[in-house]
Amino acid sequence: MRRPVFAANWKMNHGPTAARAFVAGFTARWSPRDDRTVLLFPPAISLTTVVHALGSREDIGVGVQNIWTDDTGAFTGESSAPMAKDAGARFVLVGHSERRHVFGETDAEAAKKCAAAARNDLTPILCVGELLAERESGATFDVVLRQLDAGLSLLDADAIASMAIAYEPVWAIGSGKTATPSDASAVHAQLRHALEKRVGAAARAIPILYGGSVNAGNATSLLSASGVDGLLVGGASLEPDTWVSICEA
Ligand code: 13P
Repeated sequence: MRRPVFAANWKMNHGPTAARAFVAGFTARWSPRDDRTVLLFPPAISLTTVVHALGSREDIGVGVQNIWTDDTGAFTGESSAPMAKDAGARFVLVGHSERRHVFGETDAEAAKKCAAAARNDLTPILCVGELLAERESGATFDVVLRQLDAGLSLLDADAIASMAIAYEPVWAIGSGKTATPSDASAVHAQLRHALEKRVGAAARAIPILYGGSVNAGNATSLLSASGVDGLLVGGASLEPDTWVSICEA
């Protein structure tokens, strides 16, 4: 059994002051549980604050929302995998829909970012998801499988077996619309099948998260959908009480 993963993507919210307050509020209400994994993805500028505020709470993992493809160099404004690792991150989101659709990130860049994460011992969570027009034209499976194949293309089987995938339909992100549990299951099954084709039985260890308008009211039904191993949550992860309720789903 894969342990359910609850991942909070704060996006561009919670600078250091708000991040510290969140961690104080969340850790006061959330005790370590060995039947689930909780991850926080603060903005890079709040990463060290979150790591320090968590102190000995090693049950709560921390990651960054993005990295650059190279490890050092003249890339003004970017952060690299070794820097994120040094600052206390253990995970990184790669190819999030906002990176792809707001910042124009390509499949090829997502592949290089997964490789940068893997060579620096950060666990990538590769995000895939279709636009509304792609869903309506019946292209959902093609799109997510293309993104998956491309994103994994530079990784060896061991690196793939130790990473995670997130299915986030673009039309569900921040929109209040979610995939139905059965729609999510159908996509997750396709992703699982593609992972098995690549790495065989080791694919069973790879958590596949669902994201897109998850909240305290729908978390339980989405998490109980077949093939959904966790939740990647944006807006509803910003406030400690709500985040506790979601992590209890
Ligand atoms: P919302 O939960 O705000 O829809 O965001 C989902 C998301 O993009 C998480 O990465």
